[in-house]
Amino acid sequence: MLYVRGDRRAGGFRIRTGHGERWRLKMRCRRPATLTLSAAVLLVAALQLGGCDSHGGQLTQAADPEWQMQRERMVSEQIEARGVKDPLVLEGMRSVERHLFVPETSRDSAYIDSPLPIGDSQTISQPYIVALMSELLEVGPGDRVLEIGTGSGYQAAVLAAMGVEVFSIEIRPRLCERASETLAKLNYTTARVRCGDGYGGWPDEAPFNGIIVTAAPEWVPDPLLEQLAVGANMVIPVGDFYQELKVITRTADAFEERSVIPVRFVPMTGEVERQGDP
Ligand SMILES: C[S@@+](CC[C@H](N)C(=O)[O-])C[C@H]1O[C@@H](n2cnc3c(N)ncnc32)[C@H](O)[C@@H]1O
Repeated sequence: MLYVRGDRRAGGFRIRTGHGERWRLKMRCRRPATLTLSAAVLLVAALQLGGCDSHGGQLTQAADPEWQMQRERMVSEQIEARGVKDPLVLEGMRSVERHLFVPETSRDSAYIDSPLPIGDSQTISQPYIVALMSELLEVGPGDRVLEIGTGSGYQAAVLAAMGVEVFSIEIRPRLCERASETLAKLNYTTARVRCGDGYGGWPDEAPFNGIIVTAAPEWVPDPLLEQLAVGANMVIPVGDFYQELKVITRTADAFEERSVIPVRFVPMTGEVERQGDP
């Protein structure tokens, strides 16, 4: 919901969204009073077309056409070209401003076909891998997904843009705090971040319609399997040096597992490492 109010003293408009942000737009015009109504109507239309989605996603000022173009190219050349088809995933990847999730020094590389460093020796995954894992989850609006490894918050934002409610856990306090701030600033209100070891999952919110793990354990932690709803998928890289991206589906009485592609993720740390190879 957007509230728009003409502000003659400031020579423009004050805008408030249902999510609590306040914007002020100044206009250079000599007769603000006579323009107020028509300009406000145009403004509401522009904002609704331009950036505020219904899943608690970003409210952007008119998207920067250069970044927008880079995102379009990323989606068509790196993601669709490799076979990702889910329209919800493709739209999520088009809408989330990846350059706002990487350090300023890497912004120019934000849309290249590669993972990038995000500090603390960790990485934001390659865009294709983010899209592929999102598609393999097979989730949609209203579903609840647990993510282990928030990192920059980008994967969580993509899922939130798809209408998913995200519960994300990050073990490194600095990354955790930064990701929470970024997601809040960009208004991804359906993505919640918790700081700590994701080994035990988020039992209070279980079961989940999907679980995505973005750091590689050598074996799949039992608590995560237990928190997967019947019929849901867990997408998880498993292995040490050699890793496989796996999809584990919970059926009524078993877990079915398939390998998708070889991958290279940072290792899952914490309890899973302490327990070692079972
Ligand atoms: C490849 S990065 C994740 C990228 C992230 N999904 C993104 O969109 O930026 C892997 C993350 O998993 C985190 N991690 C590793 N072990 C973890 C654990 N046991 N619990 C929670 N997070 C963990 C790392 O600190 C790192 O930030």
